[in-house]
Amino acid sequence: MNRDKTVITNMAGRRANGSVRSLDGTWRIIIDPYNCGYVDIMGERNRHGYYRDFSPRHRGDRVEYDFDTSWTIEVPGDWNTQRPELLFYEGTAWYRRLIEIDEAETGRSFIYLGAVNHTSRVFLDGHELALHEGGFGPWAVEVTGRLGVGTHSLVVMVDNRREPDRIPAMRTDWWNFGGIHRSVELVSVPEVFIRDAWITMAPDGSLIGCIELDGASGDGASGDGAAPWVRVTIGDTGVVADVMAGQRFTIGADLAASIERWNPGAPVLHEVTFELTEAAELGRTVVDSVTDTIGFRTVETVGTDIVVNGKVVWLKGISLHAEGPTGGRRAHGDDDAATLLSWAVDLGANFVRLSHYQHDEAMVKATDRLGLLAWCELPVYWGIDFANPTTLANALDQTNELVERDRNRASVILWSVANETLPGPDRNTFLAALAERARDLDPTRLITGALLTLPSNDPQVHIDDPLGEVVDVIGVNQYMGWYYASRDDLATVEWSSAFGKPIVFSELGAGAKAGHHGEPDKIWTEEFQAAVYDAQIAMIRRQHDCAGMSPWILKDFRTPMRVLPGIQDGYNRKGVVSEEGQRKLAFEVLASFYRSLAG
Ligand code: GCU
Repeated sequence: MNRDKTVITNMAGRRANGSVRSLDGTWRIIIDPYNCGYVDIMGERNRHGYYRDFSPRHRGDRVEYDFDTSWTIEVPGDWNTQRPELLFYEGTAWYRRLIEIDEAETGRSFIYLGAVNHTSRVFLDGHELALHEGGFGPWAVEVTGRLGVGTHSLVVMVDNRREPDRIPAMRTDWWNFGGIHRSVELVSVPEVFIRDAWITMAPDGSLIGCIELDGASGDGASGDGAAPWVRVTIGDTGVVADVMAGQRFTIGADLAASIERWNPGAPVLHEVTFELTEAAELGRTVVDSVTDTIGFRTVETVGTDIVVNGKVVWLKGISLHAEGPTGGRRAHGDDDAATLLSWAVDLGANFVRLSHYQHDEAMVKATDRLGLLAWCELPVYWGIDFANPTTLANALDQTNELVERDRNRASVILWSVANETLPGPDRNTFLAALAERARDLDPTRLITGALLTLPSNDPQVHIDDPLGEVVDVIGVNQYMGWYYASRDDLATVEWSSAFGKPIVFSELGAGAKAGHHGEPDKIWTEEFQAAVYDAQIAMIRRQHDCAGMSPWILKDFRTPMRVLPGIQDGYNRKGVVSEEGQRKLAFEVLASFYRSLAG
């Protein structure tokens, strides 16, 4: 379990009101493959470990590490691509930065970490404060009362080892980038503050949400014994509601009808303010206020269609890994998001599959602004220890992080609980639990999962994976024309499912080395990849209950699984763009298809 983890959301609003201090920049790092910094040779806690951040202060002082003269490392960022010695490193590393505090704190303080892969422990001035397990979700640890005026040592122990009981586990077709790969911030909040405020539109057009306070005693912030009230103001729509904190509220569809909707390709966002006040003699004083920029739309399935604001939408998509536009590194921040999504827009996409794990918040804030629909996913990928209750508990924690951070994002319409996991009793139970958790946290969005399609020579492919009963939308990964079957087989294949639900071809494609040309039957050429796209598109045009597609993948990406010299060299080559941004012939094949589709 992610002990001592606090969920703080609406961070963009807190940054805007100046209560957040960035701790990004140059840190120090010590590489520690034997965990010397945490345990001694007896396996006990090392009382003089690296988390103490000792420095040799005089001659004869036997301290066998020193952050001040160790390697530097940039945060945010993976460690693999910052130093050549670390490209393949999997193990423990210790990050340290000093924090100068000039003024005594006036309220409460938290260290917020956007994501650390995979398992991390946070220490402040040598005291261990928190443990977090999971490489892609945000979390925070309270440091109130620990940051007096002066210099403080913040140390983060990071372990990116692959373990059979982790999520993901031992093998992934992506690089196991380790490190603090998203921003770290110091958040200042009042004694009683709005920890999590969400509001989203349900299929019937009503708004539902909840505002969780932290620090409110039994009688809440109002101090008058009643549960605290929070005022919700939705931009200049005239919709204002006073709601009780700590429990779900609803704003009726009649009242919400006046709110201009967010639509794919036509995003409308509203500044939503959540204001916690308390009674005072001369009127109500604001205890805490946070804003978020939120769009409102309905999403549902009708038969085998996906419907947004009552209109059928066909998902013209593309899959992405969270890899920067160049350099084969972990993506983070607004600039990476803007560049990657501009390529998706150039494709004519209205949809992105943010696979196979939670991407940087900058990505879903950008899909909101750009009017791109989004599929967000848990790293429940391939071989998972589905029978292990500890593994399930962590997967549920990661489900919380995925949904709680992004359920204000209108662009997000799909929560995916898994990718290519083999059906079986333990797996079916495990995934059903994740779907239930996601629906509990957010009853308004659709649940999906990408199914593994095992090759067969039968042109009639019938999807009957039991996961189809659980999800709202069936993701189908299929590689006809690449891993199995031929391009010609695509001319006759018919897909059907036992469930009468929308099918999205969540993966399809082929590999090509950018700039490598030849006949369409010559593997690894751009012409070969383009011919597979042509054949796949022709098949999809015939597929009546297909609600969309997100071909694999926007950009070539690093993976230890792809080692063909001169062609792959450590990259999966199924991108329609190379790892350095070079567009391949398939890019235009796909873009031409999307342009040919109305709407
Ligand atoms: C699978 C998997 C991807 C992988 C792809 C491939 O479908 O979901 O993560 O990269 O196939 O083989 O390229």
